[in-house]
Amino acid sequence: MLRTWLEERFEIEKFTNFLKKHLEKPQPPNAKGIGYTFGGVAIAFLLLQIFTGIILLFHYKPTVSEAFDSLQKIMLEVPFGWLFRQFHSWGATFIVVLVLLHFLKVFWTSGYKKPREVNWLIGFALLLIILAFGFTGYLLPWNQTAFWGTVVATEVPSSIPFVGEFIANFLRGGEMVNDSTLSRFFVIHIILLPLALLLLIPIHIFLMRYFGISQGKKIGESEIPESELLAKGGEKFYPNHFLKESIFFYLGLALLFTLAVYFPIELGEKANPFETPLGIKPEWYFLPIFQFLKYFPESVGLFILGLVTFVIFLLPLLDKNPEKQNSKRKLILTLGIIFVFCVILLGILGYCSESTFTIFGRSYHFDILGIPYEVSK
Ligand code: HEM
Repeated sequence: MLRTWLEERFEIEKFTNFLKKHLEKPQPPNAKGIGYTFGGVAIAFLLLQIFTGIILLFHYKPTVSEAFDSLQKIMLEVPFGWLFRQFHSWGATFIVVLVLLHFLKVFWTSGYKKPREVNWLIGFALLLIILAFGFTGYLLPWNQTAFWGTVVATEVPSSIPFVGEFIANFLRGGEMVNDSTLSRFFVIHIILLPLALLLLIPIHIFLMRYFGISQGKKIGESEIPESELLAKGGEKFYPNHFLKESIFFYLGLALLFTLAVYFPIELGEKANPFETPLGIKPEWYFLPIFQFLKYFPESVGLFILGLVTFVIFLLPLLDKNPEKQNSKRKLILTLGIIFVFCVILLGILGYCSESTFTIFGRSYHFDILGIPYEVSK
């Protein structure tokens, strides 16, 4: 009945045909693996993140005097408030992991090469946006780690020559982390970054659809045209690929629920600007950068970091090798593996630094550079 009612008023048929055509768009035969689901599953978790964020906003108050207490209320008094907060906190980690995996998959499968260069640039901007979500969201609970972590992090840019102080003060909204910083981070977190995502994700998806998924063909071999993909072993996006993405999303959801219940992220203590806690550390995904900066004078470290970021951003323009077969991309793949290894190593060193661990009955203290010293118990 509803359909007839709508059909008498709108060209429903045209719309459903358009939808069907796009949903059933075929994927190339090489895009059947789990690696090709990371982007789609990241979108699903982003939608969940927006949903839990909106629920939290019903009760969260972005002022220095109320932020911590409002979150405590969400955790203790609001029905299922604890679950929404845990989903949102753990969800951030899930999204970062998925986007990083997706980024590595695109690198590994030459997905950034001609004609898809622009989509790499947009994807990289999306990665920075996701990291900025994590950075700004970290301060919002206004607890000790959030406050002091942000004090340390916003101090970092001040060592950039000439403009450093300006950038640091602009980030904080003044010389110190206070109410102005919280308002700034709040607005960036709930308005500016979501707007940027809403603008860039559709462009990213449009470009992916426009060029189709990269088929990793040899030089001189042309990509299979869309009309022949199904006959040559490809599969429809819906239902085939969508089903795979849904399965991974639901498995991820089960894991998210398990982590929320058994490994809840504690709220800690309310921020106290007069008491510096020991061993302040950022979120795990900033640990490699945090550790890296310890080994160099700050301005040198920042220069290298900026350069590395820029090189990765411009990768499709710098890597001029047209080969998409991995056996003919040994140099870039080796560089990529060394880079990932260094990032993981720095992350581990950052995690261990300024902490004491007991390994096989012996206690070791890792100093600020991550070097272990045995200590007597
Ligand atoms: C919010 C973050 C992101 C989302 C939601 C997202 C989503 C997607 C989706 C759904 C696809 C198609 C399926 C797939 O290959 O998984 C895709 C393809 C692509 N993405 Fe992303 N992406 C994100 C971040 C990135 C990043 C960080 C990069 C790299 C810097 C990137 C570069 C690309 C490229 C070049 C393609 C085409 C790959 C090919 O044709 O094989 N994306 N993205």
